[in-house]
Amino acid sequence: MEINSIEQYQSKIKETIITEDEIKAALKKAGKYIDSLYDGKPILLVSVLKGAFVFMADLCREVTVPCEVDFMCVKSYFEGMSSSGLVHIIVDLEKDISKYHVVIVEDIIDTGRTLHKLVEILNNRNPLSINIVTLLDKPDCRIADIKTDMSLFVIPDKFVIGYGLDCAEYYRTLPYIAVYGDE
Ligand code: IMP
Ligand code: MG
Repeated sequence: MEINSIEQYQSKIKETIITEDEIKAALKKAGKYIDSLYDGKPILLVSVLKGAFVFMADLCREVTVPCEVDFMCVKSYFEGMSSSGLVHIIVDLEKDISKYHVVIVEDIIDTGRTLHKLVEILNNRNPLSINIVTLLDKPDCRIADIKTDMSLFVIPDKFVIGYGLDCAEYYRTLPYIAVYGDE
């Protein structure tokens, strides 16, 4: 996708489905939920780049248990419009997670194939525990059998952008979540 003007860029941002205020309120709840799960025990937040970078930055500031952060960059291979379940690790974690309670911080679960594979990879490294917190959940699209511990928002089967989520690398910087439209 080539963007040639600000008008063209803006014309593809359709209705806002989640506002900044709604995101802020949900982040507070998610922080409290994470605190309640670990009862003061230290944790490692693992964010999946790039989509979850904004969510991670805001969520980690709502958590009060002792907390470290680490990042992983994975590429999902797509078959047409949906992910295939083949996940390639581009940047791996710095930490040996075997001594950690891990919280995976994800942007969106669509078919669930990417996350399913990621959980398998991380489970093989024997962490103390794994929990999954995702910003968005599109349950209508689920193919892989994966359950999150917390989804901040459940959304319909529409392609969305903003708050870290992109279309061809653009729109990650929008502070709200909107539907993307090409027409
Ligand atoms: P999966 O289908 O659950 O494996 O999702 C794979 C990845 O596709 C997600 O981590 C996102 O990066 C991307 N994705 C799925 N749906 C959307 C969307 O609506 N907007 C932007 N990215 C999406
Ligand atoms: Mg993702």
